[in-house]
Formats: sequence, structure tokens, C-alpha cells
Amino acid sequence: MSSLRQLAVEALSNLPMQGQTTLAVDAEARAILREWMLAARRGTVAPQPPTAPEPAVVPAAVTTPPAQEAPQSVEDKLAYLKARAQNWRAARALGSLRDTMVFAVGNPHARLMLVGEAPGYEEELQQEPFVGPAGQKLNQILAAMGLQRSEVYISNICKFRPSMGPAQNTANRAPSDEEIAACLPLIMAEIRAIRPSCIVCLGGTAARGLLGHAASVASQRGNWFDCQGIPTRVTYHPSYLLRNDTVTARRSVWEDMLAVMQHLGMPISPKQQNYFR
Ligand code: URA
Repeated sequence: MSSLRQLAVEALSNLPMQGQTTLAVDAEARAILREWMLAARRGTVAPQPPTAPEPAVVPAAVTTPPAQEAPQSVEDKLAYLKARAQNWRAARALGSLRDTMVFAVGNPHARLMLVGEAPGYEEELQQEPFVGPAGQKLNQILAAMGLQRSEVYISNICKFRPSMGPAQNTANRAPSDEEIAACLPLIMAEIRAIRPSCIVCLGGTAARGLLGHAASVASQRGNWFDCQGIPTRVTYHPSYLLRNDTVTARRSVWEDMLAVMQHLGMPISPKQQNYFR
């Protein structure tokens, strides 16, 4: 019974992340909930799941009657998700991710959302995605598109820096499939909250998580895919450009970004069009 109750509490807590803000409760469910509440008041049964405490954010769906519910802003939804991510049990339970949670940065109303793999050393220190060397490269790409960081939304598939054991220095590693899966509900909920006009997967790890694609980035480039109804493009990770500083690699990413600019209806100058011609 207690694990059933735990499952029910978790399912209810997750509803806002699935975009559901109201819930129909039939007479039987009401009777069960009432029983739980009375038992909790009597102190005979713990009202919360017995494991780690949930974040101190209570989903509106559970507490507010639908008639009084104010529409949640994107900012509210993201604040809620950030608080949930802080104590994200599925990730913490793995024991293979480091403690600091790095959420996202940028404009909640952005039309362009960029998704990387996981925070690295610098990102963990500053608790912001893409602020290290890969971030500098990403900023350059955005600048070439005529965009600033504050105009787009930048996030990661995995919200915690993957651990490399007690002797970990500045080295980073990509998240495993298990680590991606554990964090996936968060980025999926961010996408539903923001509903950008277009998503760019920065690298194969992001494509594996968002699209379920195991294929190489090279074979996915040049196509539009669908992630929760949002047109999604796959390009090389900025750190790939740091490792392969070749005209071919830079041209590939730029072609992908031109396609994104075109999709967004952004003006493209002859100079931008001809960067690598
Ligand atoms: N690489 C990523 O994928 N994300 C970051 O935030 C930093 C580096």
C-alpha cells in the first residue's frame, strides 16, 4: 500500500511537467484521498513517500481548484521545473552524477532552443550551461547568426556533471544512456513549457536523448526531425569544433545554422550566406 501511495504521489507531482494543470477525481479516488488525509492527521500513516523529501514546490494541480487556477506563465513553469530538478531523485539515485544541478539559461520566450549534453567543469562552477570553452564557441556561432545568448534558450539533456570518481579534475565525460534517461523528463518538460519554434541538438548525445537517434551526427545533419511537435535539427557539438578546427567542420555547422535561420525567418545577409563559399 505504501509503495502504491508513493507511486500515486509521484504521478500527481509529475502532472504539471506533462502540461496538465487540472485533474478529474472520481468519488472512489476522493474517498481514498480522504482516508489518506485522515490517517495522516491521526499520525498513523506518513502522508509523504518514505524516501527523500520532495522539493518544497507543490504542484497547482493538487492544491488549487480548477476554477481559481491562474494560467501559469512560462517563467513559473521553469521555476517549478528548476526546483524539481534540484532534488531530482531519478538522477541522484544513480550515484554516478555529481551533486550540483545546472539548469538552463536564456530567454523563456525564445524561438530557438539549443540543447547540449551535460555541464562540464566550468558549468558546474558557475552553475550555468555552456560557459566554458564550448560555451565560448557557441557564443561565436550565435554571434555569427546575429543572436545573443540572452535571446535564445540554452539547456542540457543531463542537468548534472557526470562523475569520474573522487579524483576527478577538470576532465569531463558524456552522460551514459542511463543518466540521459534519468534526466530526460526535465528537458522534455522545458520544451513543453517554452514551445520554441525550433530546437537544435548540439551533438549526438542531445539527439540520442531528444530524438532517440543512435546514428552519427554526420548522418542526421541536413534533416528536420520532430521532438514533441517542434522542428528539430542536429548539428555538431561546439566542442567537436574545438577538437576539429577545420573549414569542413565549421562549414557544416554554419550550414545547419543557416537552415535554422531560414526556418525562423531571420534575415540572412549576403555575407552570412557566403561565409564558407
Ligand atoms: N557541453 C555541454 O554539452 N553542455 C554544457 O553546458 C557545457 C559543455
